[in-house]
Amino acid sequence: MFVTQELNIGYSENLIVENLNVTIPVGKITALVGANGSGKSTILKAIARLLKPKRGSVYLDGKSIYEEKTKEVAKRLAILPQNPVAPEGLTVSELVTYGRFPHQKGFGSLTKKDKEIIEWAIEMTGMYEFVYQAVDHLSGGQRQRAWIAMAIAQDTPVLFLDEPTTFLDMAHQIEVLNLLKKLHHEDNKTIIMVVHDLNHASRYAHHMVGIKNGKVVKTGTPEKVMVPDTLENIYGVKSDIIKDPRSNRPLCLPYGLCSKDKLNQKINHEVLI
Ligand SMILES: Nc1ncnc2c1ncn2[C@@H]1O[C@H](COP(=O)(O)OP(=O)(O)OP(=O)(O)O)[C@@H](O)[C@H]1O
Ligand SMILES: [Mg+2]
Repeated sequence: MFVTQELNIGYSENLIVENLNVTIPVGKITALVGANGSGKSTILKAIARLLKPKRGSVYLDGKSIYEEKTKEVAKRLAILPQNPVAPEGLTVSELVTYGRFPHQKGFGSLTKKDKEIIEWAIEMTGMYEFVYQAVDHLSGGQRQRAWIAMAIAQDTPVLFLDEPTTFLDMAHQIEVLNLLKKLHHEDNKTIIMVVHDLNHASRYAHHMVGIKNGKVVKTGTPEKVMVPDTLENIYGVKSDIIKDPRSNRPLCLPYGLCSKDKLNQKINHEVLI
């Protein structure tokens, strides 16, 4: 389990998340959902040890991840941030090779295993035809897949992804989500991702965390989180929830916005978990 205890997270003087207590299961796929600016990326970065909290800590199996050496943590946790930027001219092959850095000793060259994992990551993300191209010359979707290849090449038991399907066309969205499902199913990887498409979250995640104004408003199975009242509270959107005939998971059909007054009333009513 990842457990956060009374976590305060922010940027310079601004506190974005206050007193965050959340538990994220290991060996499962978890989706963080919430409106723009609600704090999803901030929370993900703090749990992935990319943003040091102002107070509190994050515990993995009872040990604070902030007390471990960076390289050791990088062997266990990989993160794909929301808007990663590659140095100008860096090729896809070079970027994916960086993923192996935590596993290398000193200035050692790539081992056979490193090369196999790099090949596998490139193949899994459909990036073969782009390996010698500069990352900054790729389309948004191709670039996103190059970064996903880099993250999975790190071959860590835990993978954090901030909006992995943004910029991707419908086929590539399904491809990436199926890849994550496969990584979880075959290698028992823990996947923690931010997703905007609630129906993707519901279909692919075992556990959901609904975030609003830097606070967790609901956690649990998609059946527990994907209910009209909670979605109204989180997004201010009215929706019908039906059962997806294929996955049997809840499917959200948004149809309107709630009034501002109703939304303000709701803020105080939802039980905090
Ligand atoms: N580097 C930063 N410096 C200062 N403030 C920041 C920084 N990054 C985010 N914020 C602020 O923190 C708040 C939460 O931002 P965050 O990026 O966590 O939201 P989000 O839920 O991921 O939104 P989105 O869905 O748009 O990606 C916002 O008010 C934002 O302006
Ligand atoms: Mg974000």
